[in-house]
Parts: sequence; C-alpha cells; structure tokens
Amino acid sequence: MSGFEIVDAKEAHLPGVVAIFNHAVRETFSIWSETETTLELRKAWLAARTGSGFPVIVAVDPAQPNDVLGYGSFGVFRDFPGYVKTVEHSVYVAPTAQRRGIGRAILSELVVQAQAKSLAAMVGGIDSTNAGSIALHEQAGFEIQGNLKGVGRKFGKTLDLVFMVKAL
Ligand SMILES: CC(C)(COP(=O)(O)OP(=O)(O)OC[C@H]1O[C@@H](n2cnc3c(N)ncnc32)[C@H](O)[C@@H]1OP(=O)(O)O)[C@@H](O)C(=O)NCCC(=O)NCCS
Repeated sequence: MSGFEIVDAKEAHLPGVVAIFNHAVRETFSIWSETETTLELRKAWLAARTGSGFPVIVAVDPAQPNDVLGYGSFGVFRDFPGYVKTVEHSVYVAPTAQRRGIGRAILSELVVQAQAKSLAAMVGGIDSTNAGSIALHEQAGFEIQGNLKGVGRKFGKTLDLVFMVKAL
C-alpha cells in the first residue's frame, strides 16, 4: 500500500517511537517489560545503535513526516565475537496503523540492510502467543528454530519465547 515511506530515524521521531513502545509495554506481551521507556532512554538507544553502524528506521506519512507509524531496528544478537554476523531485530507498528503493510515494509527494509552488511542471519525473539508477528515473519521467509518454554514473565504470566531466524 502507499501512504507511508521508510526513512532513517532522527531525534524528531523519538516521541513517536516512545508512544509505540509504551503502548506495547502497557497493552501487549511483545515487550517483556512492565516499565515504560522515556525520551532520554530512546535518545541513548538511537545514538548507540547508529553509532555502532546499526539501522533504526521509521515508517512515516510523507505529509506528516515526524508522526511515526512504525519503527524497526537491529543490533547485537549475543555479545561475543562468534555472533558478529548475526543480528537480532525488532519491528513495531502503531495500533492505529496496523494491517496496512507497514510491518512487512519495515521488516523487508531491515533484511535489505542486513544483506548489504553481508550479515549471515537475522533473529527475532517473539512471544509464542503473538500470532500476528509470527505470521509476518513466516511471510518474510523466517522460520521457527527454537521455542524456549517458560523463560519469560509479565503481568503474572509465564511466557514462552519463539526464535525465528532468516538465513541471509
Ligand atoms: C506484528 C506487527 C509488527 C505487524 O505489523 P503490521 O503492519 O500490522 O503488519 P502488516 O500489515 O505488514 O502484515 C503483514 C502480514 O503479517 C501477518 N499479520 C500481521 N498482523 C497480523 C495479525 N494481527 N494476525 C494475523 N496475521 C497478521 C499477515 O500475514 C499480514 O499479511 P496480510 O495482511 O496480507 O494478511 C504489528 O501488529 C505490531 O507492531 N504489533 C505489536 C508489536 C509486536 O508484536 N511487534 C513484534 C514483536 S516480535
């Protein structure tokens, strides 16, 4: 669909990123935290990611270029040299902008950028009940390669983590 474009995130986008992140914290199991983030924390995250050469991208409406419809990024998977060719990514879309192809476009752009860096694999860690995200990743060529049972906890529930991997 049209009506949005994917661009590199700037500080002006961070209030939108904070809003999407905190909605996910409050209302979903997609982020395993019950603590909301802040603009300062997201500024530090953006600086750390981009300073390490990792992408942070946002989907915006060209008519309202600071209004964030969704965002995505990837970074270190596990911090040991042997994992240097593998990254862990995330993708989030504002509740009011879901099912318009934005998640698919963000994930596709992250794959393109990972391939351009000659990386070997992308890993997504997904709550096992997040059927939408699992379907999105399957469509993008990711496959389930692990199901870690009982490794998470939120809102008093014990959670399972699915690892979905795409070989690049
Ligand atoms: C998961 C998420 C990123 C999907 O983004 P989106 O922009 O809504 O998804 P898209 O419109 O690009 O959908 C692409 C495909 O993914 C699948 N999909 C997306 N949302 C789905 C849902 N709620 N239920 C079932 N399938 C879904 C479908 O196959 C869809 O293709 P289709 O619309 O042609 O059927 C979004 O719902 C989201 O941000 N959710 C909350 C946070 C989250 O779960 N993030 C992922 C953490 S791992």
